[in-house]
Amino acid sequence: MLQHTPQGELFPEALSQAIKEKFYWVDEDYTGTKRLFFENAGGSFTLKQAEQDYVHMERIGDCPERTSKTADYLNSVIDKGINDVRCMLNAKGGSVITMLTASQVIYEMTRVAAENLPGKNIVTTALEHPSAYDSAKYYAEKTNREFRVAKTNPETGGVDVDEVVGLVDEDTCFLSVIYASNISGSILDIEQIVAKARAKKPDLYIIVDAVQHVPHGLVDLQKTPVDAINFAPYKFCGLRGLGVGWVSDRFASLPHHKLAAKPAGEWELGSPAPAQYAGVSAIVDHVCWIGEQFEKKNMRREAFALGMEKIAQHERALMQHLLEGTPELPGLRHMDGVEVFLDYPDLSTRDFIVACAIKGLECAEAVEKYAEMDVTVYERVASSLYSKRMLDSFGLEGTLRISPFHCHTVEDVDQFLRITAELIKKQK
Ligand SMILES: Cc1ncc(COP(=O)(O)O)c(C=O)c1O
Repeated sequence: MLQHTPQGELFPEALSQAIKEKFYWVDEDYTGTKRLFFENAGGSFTLKQAEQDYVHMERIGDCPERTSKTADYLNSVIDKGINDVRCMLNAKGGSVITMLTASQVIYEMTRVAAENLPGKNIVTTALEHPSAYDSAKYYAEKTNREFRVAKTNPETGGVDVDEVVGLVDEDTCFLSVIYASNISGSILDIEQIVAKARAKKPDLYIIVDAVQHVPHGLVDLQKTPVDAINFAPYKFCGLRGLGVGWVSDRFASLPHHKLAAKPAGEWELGSPAPAQYAGVSAIVDHVCWIGEQFEKKNMRREAFALGMEKIAQHERALMQHLLEGTPELPGLRHMDGVEVFLDYPDLSTRDFIVACAIKGLECAEAVEKYAEMDVTVYERVASSLYSKRMLDSFGLEGTLRISPFHCHTVEDVDQFLRITAELIKKQK
């Protein structure tokens, strides 16, 4: 099976170029300056089609909640977007939630779980983004529950299955766990976590923050049947101003904010925004299109799954190249002036993020030096509220985060390696 090839597989060259063409400002920024943007864990490239479909829909000012032909059209776009959220996650039934950000979505899901489910403790991990961690802590305190936090594994940058499962018991109100870390890239074994945690408490409610993982790997809720999950289209070729969640039927029917006369499982509150749904469908179209370059599929989910598998393979091959390089152009693992953190040979359990440091340079200084050479990377440092807890748990003061995207090529990675070698030379 493809996903077991640790070093991945690049897209054919013509496809790689065609993919690049589908995005705005990959090789040059909006001012026309040449650049390498390796900061896609903070906000990804935008698909031209997502923006164009969004603008087209926003030009139509009509209300979808009418009986006109235009309203029918707007509703068909909304329905397609909702089905496409299900397609991305392989979700059956349940309800889709949209808010301005993924953080708002997980706060809301956490609030509803804490306020309505019985239990004496809430379990999460030290690897969570603050939106999941802080909301779980806040509602644990507010509802008088014990707050239990699973430790990270400082070797892998992840959290081991047994660390999480060990904290779950019959009295667990819910488990909130991240799918993959936006700092280390490590992918948690959610399938095992769900299976083992439910072996201990069969009706356990599970909330998953999938913001980092959804753009880089396939989520399949039929294999990982959690109750609530979120993602952010702007991290996945889409547009800012939208956080998306999906909740299972049993979670959807828990008491929550809604207009009283609406059906029990309705989670949307107020006027829907067809343009946002059109933006989501453009992402799904893009991934399906990639899948179909390899094999025609009858079902949209099958094409999407194949597209995601190919994206994961391409990103893994680029990560292998970034780490290993060639005899002429050594990769990060082999450069004297670079220290790679949280690194291990099997890349199949990592999203495309490399955490590293340039020896002798503070992370923030290194980011500036890269910027002077028209390369965008980001530092994750312990002084940031977005990184401190996770870095402390790994015993690291800070890292550079290198996060390219599936529209990048081997040439882009080579260019990054050459610039890194130059930067190190200047240091000496
Ligand atoms: C793993 C993870 N979860 C949640 C979020 C929050 O997303 P947003 O800023 O859209 O609310 C982020 C954003 O960086 C993230 O990386």
